[in-house]
Amino acid sequence: MLTRPDVAIVGAGPVGLAIAWRCARRGLRVVVHDPAPGSGAAHVAAGMLAPVAEAYFGEHELTALLVESAARWPAFAAELAGAAGTDIGYRTDGTLVVGLTADDLAEARRLWAYQQGLGLPITPLRPSELRDREPALTPRVRGGALAPGDHQVDPRRLLPALRAAAERAGAALRPAPVARLSDVFARVTVVAAGCGAAALTGLPVRPVKGQVLRLRAPGRGAPGFRHVIRGYADGESVYLVPRDGGEVVVGATVEERGDTEVTAGAVLRLLRAAVELVPELAEYDLVEASAGLRPGTPDNAPIIGPLPGRPGVLAATGHHRHGIVLTPVTADLVTELIVTGEPDPLLAPFGPDRFVPEKERGWN
Ligand code: GLY
Repeated sequence: MLTRPDVAIVGAGPVGLAIAWRCARRGLRVVVHDPAPGSGAAHVAAGMLAPVAEAYFGEHELTALLVESAARWPAFAAELAGAAGTDIGYRTDGTLVVGLTADDLAEARRLWAYQQGLGLPITPLRPSELRDREPALTPRVRGGALAPGDHQVDPRRLLPALRAAAERAGAALRPAPVARLSDVFARVTVVAAGCGAAALTGLPVRPVKGQVLRLRAPGRGAPGFRHVIRGYADGESVYLVPRDGGEVVVGATVEERGDTEVTAGAVLRLLRAAVELVPELAEYDLVEASAGLRPGTPDNAPIIGPLPGRPGVLAATGHHRHGIVLTPVTADLVTELIVTGEPDPLLAPFGPDRFVPEKERGWN
């Protein structure tokens, strides 16, 4: 006889796999459904863990969740590396935010003032201090700031590690699509399907395309800089994420569309901004250009919690630009909700009910 799993998770991206790992470790029987595990937006993502450099005007509740999740990352990374027996490329060199022109710097300074007003750790630096930290930066940079707590992880190491940890803890992977939630057989179903959550739940999750490049330092050496660099260059926003193995990830466009074509114009803009900030990148090999679809929501914040009118169904989606950094806190809070039935107060601003009219909410 088929035993009903305690938890079925739809979606084997970082959020779904981390929930699977956490739930399986709590002794729950877990099944994860995904026709192509680990092939979604996270496969393309750069892996910035940047609660400060990515904190934006008017998103203070989201910023608080980013800060909470970033604080969980060191323990999460250590535990995961131990459980999976692999290195996940977690690095704590910090992030430099830089402005190339006077206009770029003026824009960046306004954001730093906002971030400092929230009490976030970001320290303005003079151009000479910036180049002392990263001599690879162009001498044309007008100024910048250090966000020492903004770190990085390699999503292409993170995904297999999460899968290994989840499977070692007892979770089972079913590599098949889920067309309707009524096809899923479990006590609790968690929809962690990124943009796919819209069709499964009716929640307002839309694709936001991001084109990303991967460069490689010549001669298989390490890149000539160690910090993540978040730059504004002649009005273009770009980030550069150096990895130990020689890779530099250059991202990303933010496009309100749902295709994954790579366009010449986007590659040109990303490369121009990258090379303007770090001229040596012109000598690197261009090894990959790809596009992923971030799951965006109307207020840019994730959707985490019970689905109104759908007993036993939880959402964990809509992480938009922050899926990797928000993975630990999402996994912990969803697991706690499943185990205890009690939502953590941290979840209050992020419930699906904020998008469901009161008359349709029903009773869970
Ligand atoms: N988190 C960076 C991006 O979405 O492009």
